[in-house]
Amino acid sequence: MTNPAAATSYDEVPYPNQAHSQTHPDRLAAMATLLGMQPAPPARCRVLELGCAAGANLIPMAYALPGSEFLGIDLSARQVADGQALVEALGLKNIELRHQDLLTAGADLGRFDYIIAHGLYAWVPPNVQDRVLALCGGHLDPQGVAFVSYDAYPYGHLRAVARDMMRYHSRGVADPVDRAARARELLTLLREAEPPEPRAYHLLLRAEHDRYAVRSDEYLLHECLGDVTEPLLFRDFADRAARHGLRYLTEVYYAATTLTRFPPRVVRYLERLNVLEREQYLDFLNGRAFRQTLLCRQDVGDLPGLSPERLTSFYLAATPVLDDEAGSPAAAAWRAGSPLAEAALGFLREVRPRWVGFEELHGAARARLDGDAVLVQSAAEHGRERQTLAESLLRALAAGAVELHASAPGFISEVRERPLASAVARAQVARGNSTVTALDHEDVGLAPEGAQLLFYLDGRHDRAALVEALVRFVEVNDLAVQRDGRAVTDPAEVRAVLAGDVDAMLGAMAARALLAG
Ligand SMILES: C[S@@+](CC[C@H](N)C(=O)[O-])C[C@H]1O[C@@H](n2cnc3c(N)ncnc32)[C@H](O)[C@@H]1O
Repeated sequence: MTNPAAATSYDEVPYPNQAHSQTHPDRLAAMATLLGMQPAPPARCRVLELGCAAGANLIPMAYALPGSEFLGIDLSARQVADGQALVEALGLKNIELRHQDLLTAGADLGRFDYIIAHGLYAWVPPNVQDRVLALCGGHLDPQGVAFVSYDAYPYGHLRAVARDMMRYHSRGVADPVDRAARARELLTLLREAEPPEPRAYHLLLRAEHDRYAVRSDEYLLHECLGDVTEPLLFRDFADRAARHGLRYLTEVYYAATTLTRFPPRVVRYLERLNVLEREQYLDFLNGRAFRQTLLCRQDVGDLPGLSPERLTSFYLAATPVLDDEAGSPAAAAWRAGSPLAEAALGFLREVRPRWVGFEELHGAARARLDGDAVLVQSAAEHGRERQTLAESLLRALAAGAVELHASAPGFISEVRERPLASAVARAQVARGNSTVTALDHEDVGLAPEGAQLLFYLDGRHDRAALVEALVRFVEVNDLAVQRDGRAVTDPAEVRAVLAGDVDAMLGAMAARALLAG
């Protein structure tokens, strides 16, 4: 057992604060309900997060869902203290962050509707791994959902190639900053040594180089240079879960479980397998490195599986996948299907990141198709059309083009006279963070002037007051203001330029789900 009073590597170097939108009860409830479960509504539920670090995932949830209760547990005293300070600054009463070793947690916990273990399982020793699943099995409500992410074999073997070399190159270096620098030095060396006609080995190292290039030193230190990395086969994970009374439900990204991209012979092969075997072979075929699995209790009973009718009770959002994968199944889902489905997907894309209830979406898609023309439909025709649209959207979900939400979004898309931003995001900038969590539970990076503006979005400052705040910020920090590449010094012109900047930044904040009112 670990002594919770002892400093951990996360006390020395805290993990980067991150929210993980795919762990939000709103997303877990939607997937579980679609598959036939009856999980607790996100607005009234109990959530446990294991390895919650400084609460960057849990605190914005607690703020957004005041009628629900949240408990986070983490072994690192420093991270938990950081999180508690933010909880106090926000005055939240529905969340507790507890400094505790998971190995000693359990007796007094009670039951939870959702249990989250993100970025934990593959980086802890086997006894803690076992405890994670024991806590899920022992404390999940009969209709509860657990989210557990982990590194998967066989791709985990490939990740180990670069990781082992980085560990070798940085061995004996005590200072974390120097250790990360040594690891990066090796990645650069490997990249520079790539021959003109690279073999599979070099392409693999290039992929790892590129992956770490966009990650922070903190991430690299814990993910790659930490003491423990324990990937496993999906089947082994499912068997371990079963030993704790847990059953595989699905992946949180449902498209990861579908066969959309395969040729017919491969689909026929996979369709002959049972669910667990099929998931294992999908990892063989796709080379998936990271799984984000949803589990439920084995005694949940028979689950009827996906139903287009159940989809009509959800909210839908377009995913960003189309931006970078023109030939993907998601892009195909966009083009295929009926004109009505295509209009619905086009509408979702236009209003992204907002999510839209099925009935509103149906109406918006009809309006896009009909323009000003008046459509006269019998009730039977309307019902058939609704059913066809729900089936198309289910296919779009399977292709990864849309995601589901159980509840209405808590942000607005327009900019009001006295804008109000998320209190969490405002508290985060007040603490000097340049990344804040938006109301869709996504992290957003802000430039210094954006952070300054956000600080003033308390619903009391009108546009004129916001421009004045930005003028003061520019003066105090002695910043240069430019228009068309030319330095602007005339005070009236400075004000006019900054007024334009305020409008542009407010528009961007609305588009990034940062505005609550
Ligand atoms: C890689 S971080 C992930 C943090 C966060 N869940 C995320 O994904 O952003 C792993 C976290 O698990 C915590 N942890 C590791 N072993 C633990 C244990 N035995 N009991 C409680 N927390 C533990 C660490 O302190 C650290 O904050």
